[in-house]
Amino acid sequence: MKGVLLAGGTGTRLYPLTGLINKHLIPVGESPMICYGIERLKKAGVTEIMLIISKQSAGLYTDFLGSGSSMGIKLTYKIQDQAGGIGEALELARGFIFPGERFVVVLGDNLFLDDLKPFMDKFEQQPAGSARVLLKRVSDPRRYGVPVFDEQNRSLISYIEEKPGKPKSPYCVTGIYMYDDHVFERIAATAPSARGELEITDVNNMYARDGKLEYDILRKWWTDAGTFESLREAAGKMKRAEF
Ligand code: DAU
Repeated sequence: MKGVLLAGGTGTRLYPLTGLINKHLIPVGESPMICYGIERLKKAGVTEIMLIISKQSAGLYTDFLGSGSSMGIKLTYKIQDQAGGIGEALELARGFIFPGERFVVVLGDNLFLDDLKPFMDKFEQQPAGSARVLLKRVSDPRRYGVPVFDEQNRSLISYIEEKPGKPKSPYCVTGIYMYDDHVFERIAATAPSARGELEITDVNNMYARDGKLEYDILRKWWTDAGTFESLREAAGKMKRAEF
């Protein structure tokens, strides 16, 4: 399976650090944040990875990661000009993914310790045109996309609420998603949200509405390192990315 690692966006919650450098290059422990996503993908056997980056610090990514050969992977880069949302960033991987091909998407600020392989194996068993997302039980689901489970079929998500005031479950949808090339049609069918972004939750809700959104729950530590607090926590957990 190929992988798409999203490292666009502006990282406003980590300003002023992100005024200097792109969020996903900020050191976490002994490595830049982006290395951990690459490491997780590589450990799961994903060696062909598209990295979606913003214009900011683009040269630093290529200086640091190059073609990926020193890490035993093959990297392809795409630039997202504006922070138009996760859906828009993912759309840039059209062409990298062949017809009928399945792939895994990881948001570059999601740091975690679970092995992705068992979840990818389960996704391989799903019908074509379906999707799988990974969830995590969290103390404050209001900060995230929150799944509502299908009452009739507990292996399905019936819908996701993005940053709800009153979450209907104690889980969050992490930034780890599995799709096949059908996702590009779904993205094309979404419209910008009130904040002007193509939202991944809108895309996932199309799958959910059609009864095609399955999930797994991460058992080990996970964080979205988008704030100073989570960045500090992550630095204690993630020591050095090992390829
Ligand atoms: O981390 C999990 C959460 O990520 C989910 O629970 C939410 O459902 C999902 O919408 C997302 O929420 P955030 O508000 O945390 O997303 P954020 O805008 O911080 O973007 C997260 C990552 O996505 C960022 O590290 C890089 C990538 N991204 C984001 C945007 C807006 C891009 O590559 N391009 C973009 O334009």
